[in-house]
Amino acid sequence: MSKDSAPKNKSKKQSEPIHDMVPIFLMGKKYDVPATLTIQKAFEYAGYQLVRGCGCRGGICGACGTVYRFPDSYRIEVGLACQTVVEPNMYIAQIPFFPANRAQYDLEKLEPTGSTVTALYPEIYKCVGCGTCTRSCPMDIDVMEYISRAIRGDIAGAAELSFDCVMCGLCAARCPAEEAQYNIAILTRRLYGRYIVPGARHLKDAVENIKKKKFEKGLGKLKKMNVDKLKEVYNERETEPQFGPEDWEPENKDYLVTK
Ligand code: SF4
Ligand code: SF4
Ligand code: FES
Repeated sequence: MSKDSAPKNKSKKQSEPIHDMVPIFLMGKKYDVPATLTIQKAFEYAGYQLVRGCGCRGGICGACGTVYRFPDSYRIEVGLACQTVVEPNMYIAQIPFFPANRAQYDLEKLEPTGSTVTALYPEIYKCVGCGTCTRSCPMDIDVMEYISRAIRGDIAGAAELSFDCVMCGLCAARCPAEEAQYNIAILTRRLYGRYIVPGARHLKDAVENIKKKKFEKGLGKLKKMNVDKLKEVYNERETEPQFGPEDWEPENKDYLVTK
């Protein structure tokens, strides 16, 4: 995060009376911002330019982990800056990255078992079952439960339960056992995807077709086209109708696979 030269707080726009302003503290400095803003928008309203810790702005990328607290409480609160609306007297600091243990491994040499997880993340046994991680998760994931399933060797269960994880790190921010829940979760999803879920038939077929150079003719044709022709071909391509049948296929598949 960087700061523009002069805070826009003093601009004409802000000097005009605006109802429902609330005082907040960004990196230790007080600003009055509209009460309806998210923390992310409040930073920008106050003149900060977010170049780190800001991505999708829609609660999906997990880049905007933020910590805050209130003057009458020592409790550290956490949230996604793009999803958390400001409250009066929030003291806010952004932490775009939570340092947490990330094990190194070669997925091809692992087995999809609980002992794989506990060997790579032995600290998982330190979990005290406090549930703070679950209460911190902006994606409403039962984090404590997927940790518990990972300990029990239920790789599929841990992987499925953690599927919506956006890797924001907020669960780790307040964990008394210093777990890196999201790194444990992604290990279980990798094991699940590599060893447990049946392979996708269409993907296997596609790889085989690439190896057999079945796309070469179509690609060769495209490579010879100039940009305008490419645009024309792209715009005129058959596209799946919005409400088409589930088994829809393009009529002309010559350009996809050539015998
Ligand atoms: S916050 Fe940490 S110790 Fe508490 S339940 Fe979650 S993983 Fe376990
Ligand atoms: S499990 Fe942890 S890292 Fe994943 S979305 Fe929830 S709080 Fe963020
Ligand atoms: S900016 Fe992507 S989750 Fe907030």
